[in-house]
Amino acid sequence: MLYADRTNVVTNSPTLAISAKAKALKAEGVDVISFSAGQPDFPTPDHIKAAGIAAIEENATGYTASSGTPALRKAIAEWMTGQIGVEYSQKNIMVSTGAKFSLTAAILATIDRGAEVIFTAPYWVSYPDMVRLADGTPVIAKTTAKDGYKITPEQLEAHISPKTRMLLLNSPSNPTGAVYNRNEIVALAEILRKYPDIWILSDEIYSKLIYGGAEHFSIAAVSKEIADRTIVVNGVSKTYAMTGWRIGWMAGPEELVSLAGKIQSHTTSCPSSISQEATLKALTSPDGFLDEMRQAYRRRRDLFVELLRDVPGIVPYVPEGAFYLFCEIGDIIGKTREDGGKISSCMDFADYLLDEARVAAVPGGAFGLGGHIRFSFATSDDDIKRGVARIAEAVGKLS
Ligand SMILES: Cc1ncc(COP(=O)(O)O)c(C=O)c1O
Repeated sequence: MLYADRTNVVTNSPTLAISAKAKALKAEGVDVISFSAGQPDFPTPDHIKAAGIAAIEENATGYTASSGTPALRKAIAEWMTGQIGVEYSQKNIMVSTGAKFSLTAAILATIDRGAEVIFTAPYWVSYPDMVRLADGTPVIAKTTAKDGYKITPEQLEAHISPKTRMLLLNSPSNPTGAVYNRNEIVALAEILRKYPDIWILSDEIYSKLIYGGAEHFSIAAVSKEIADRTIVVNGVSKTYAMTGWRIGWMAGPEELVSLAGKIQSHTTSCPSSISQEATLKALTSPDGFLDEMRQAYRRRRDLFVELLRDVPGIVPYVPEGAFYLFCEIGDIIGKTREDGGKISSCMDFADYLLDEARVAAVPGGAFGLGGHIRFSFATSDDDIKRGVARIAEAVGKLS
């Protein structure tokens, strides 16, 4: 049988591979501590769950309008305006099956064969594949801890070519937790002003998960000219602990949103009617529980960073948002395991941690930047304490 060429351009998600291996060990009864999760460890709040149950009982179980129910689109427009200070109406919003499909639809609606999309490494694992599936070309700007893993205006300009069609930004970032501040965003927008045909796709899925003094500032808020070519993506997965409900959205210029809606109508039809009702509840109810979640994440971040100070060779970047610790492990690469095996890459180190410490983490290579490892702190304080103790012991055995 023949298969389409596009199946060759997509890779298997390496993060899923590690969690699958960890899950298989757990199923065998092995006590694995997982720092690989990309989702909150909190349950969906009760009032949101109740709205989902009520939707089923009230028979809100048929197809909805393809881009989402009018009530939800309106609620999202208001939520977005409140969140980033840009005026949106229903027509600027498309609700989708997770933020992931909004990202995909935005790329499919703008990227032609060979068009270039600039984003940083480390990047969220799906970006390169989304771009390649649209026949586009990823153009990757490598960042370092010194620059807070953020693209600088000079770097952005250096990566722009006549083929550049889009800049893909992600703040707060997965995997680093880096948050671009207002000045940094304005400086990037200054460069983009010179290139009016470049779209901006801004993935802001972690915008509510910010700690300490940092603030979330969306590039769409810089000016009307920039907002008119920016597609902002957000959703309920991370903020409201609703990953399995699969609701995300895009907010952007009306024409683009309507074209993305056409793509959605012929692919997924519409997002789940039940999940849309639950999301409407989430966005229109008081969200005091968010503070509790944020406090818990912050406490866990501080605990994790503090404990890692005693582990030589693992240097965390202290994140201002999301729930990941991205750590440099350059001094560990090249070391030897007790069984004689070499740690030649971050993948080897992730394997070693799973084998020796029974700790699951994701190697930086999965995010396009070797020499690093990502630990998720969307897990209990107790797991963090036990997990870091195990990591320390395993690292101590390397020579
Ligand atoms: C940076 C980033 N963008 C988008 C998503 C997708 O979110 P959703 O569950 O809404 O599809 C994720 C999920 O891990 C993410 O980390």
